[in-house]
Amino acid sequence: MGNASLQAVRDVMSHPVVTASSGETVAEAAARMREQHVGSVVVVDGDLPVGILTERDLVLLSAQGADPSNDRVVDWMTPDPDSVSSDTDATAAFASLAERGYRHIPVVDDKALVGLVSMRDLMRIAAIQPADSIATDVPRGLEGVEVAETSVGDVRGLEGFYHYRQYNAVELAQKRTLEDVWYLLFEGELPTRQERERFLDEVRPLREIPPEVAAVLPEIARLGADAPPLEMLRTTVSLMTAALRFEPSLDVSADELRAQALRVCAVVPTLLMALYRLQHGEEPIPPHPELSYAANYLYMLDGKEPSPEHARAIEQYLVCTIEHGFNASTFTARVITSTGADLGAAVVGAIGALSGPLHGGAPSRALAMLDAIGTPDRAEAYLREQVSSGQRLMGFGHRAYKTYDPRSELLRGVAEPLGGDQVELAKQVERTAIEVLDELKPGRRLFTNVEFYTGVVMNTCGLPREMFTPTFASSRMIGWCAHILEQAADNRLIRPSATYVGPPPPQPVPDA
Ligand code: ACO
Repeated sequence: MGNASLQAVRDVMSHPVVTASSGETVAEAAARMREQHVGSVVVVDGDLPVGILTERDLVLLSAQGADPSNDRVVDWMTPDPDSVSSDTDATAAFASLAERGYRHIPVVDDKALVGLVSMRDLMRIAAIQPADSIATDVPRGLEGVEVAETSVGDVRGLEGFYHYRQYNAVELAQKRTLEDVWYLLFEGELPTRQERERFLDEVRPLREIPPEVAAVLPEIARLGADAPPLEMLRTTVSLMTAALRFEPSLDVSADELRAQALRVCAVVPTLLMALYRLQHGEEPIPPHPELSYAANYLYMLDGKEPSPEHARAIEQYLVCTIEHGFNASTFTARVITSTGADLGAAVVGAIGALSGPLHGGAPSRALAMLDAIGTPDRAEAYLREQVSSGQRLMGFGHRAYKTYDPRSELLRGVAEPLGGDQVELAKQVERTAIEVLDELKPGRRLFTNVEFYTGVVMNTCGLPREMFTPTFASSRMIGWCAHILEQAADNRLIRPSATYVGPPPPQPVPDA
């Protein structure tokens, strides 16, 4: 552990600890958290910690419509929290928190609470340790490691819950428009009626493709005649942000960066549909100024105004995929922004990360699986054969969710009223696949992810398969940009380390 042993938990923990009793109301405990500016309270019985109540619990409580002035702390706390002793090596505590996904852990000596240590306290130490003292303790794929603070949103995988700036994302998708949620992500709160009107007026003209970029689109489409649309989007966004002279984020004001972000988010749907049409030998259709983001998205595909049901179904999909924590593409966007590079570089990197089938590239594959199955009676044999031969079922499993993905539940509900055989087949395949995975991959907790019903919804609304992942990129662009703005506003270069596992150095360099 090297220098790590120089500091123990007692050197970094906070004390005295803000506490609560299990019998008091959540509202009382929450008021104390606010007054003392802390993100959690330790629930004690005498000196003994019996639970922990965090801001995340408060978010869940509000999402479930519970009444904090009625509900007791005991109903919402995590009981019997793990703890560390004050002489624990700080680096060992860091590894333990990272592995178990905790943000705070009580410090207990001789059964008495003596302090509270947070991931943030421990990361501060980690930041001044030589890299070799901590890198080996970080799990593969950075699973469970908290690498930044964000107020854009959060995913609580074990509970099957995620939110955007404290609002349950599923509820936002059910009740609000895409434009409202876009405003929420950029401005920090939902718009009033007037703010909404102003925002719509601001965004509408930004949907137009800059003329110098429109002029070269046919050539890009010709060169990439067989390329996936997301690759062409990546190229075009790179070209456009260069043509618009986006300066390094380090050198531009917050207002200018916001304006760039709005520009990119507004124009991406137009670019995508224009490239798609050009690839198919058709002229691009300019955006319709009277239509909402979602309806206009479908309109630019074939020039027909979509039915309100289809526009709303796509809008719900777009809202529920705008943002989703520190996934690979969002992290990529933040890493690039942390170097001070321009917004174009950050979103182009994010598009690249999203294009992988383990991230955003699965919805058409999930639909291909439904096609291969064909009819419900063939589901079980097909799924068993796939899993037994080591194949992954597309649209199942998730790094964060070890229970139902709330987006897949929402989209099942969006798909159902659209009707059709495919929806019925999907529901049957979902049921069977979960049983098969439970039997053949016991303990892995594999359920449907967002991609499974995405394909069904998009297909039913008339989007071609090759546009599934680009549509995801279109909504996620808004989430990426919210993260870029947040990263740029309070930046520190993201620069982790790796464990070297090659032959021991230094080896003599052989003579030439
Ligand atoms: N089908 C069958 N088995 C699976 C699946 C699946 N879809 N997903 C995971 N497993 C199994 C793995 O084989 C592994 O089993 P093992 O312990 O016998 O080796 C175990 O579950 C754990 O798998 P990991 O790869 O460690 O899980 P990880 O968290 O890294 O992967 C991922 C998550 C990439 C989404 C994975 O579940 C997967 O490949 N799913 C299919 C592709 C997919 O649906 N992608 C879209 C993701 S949603 C999104 O990004 C928006």
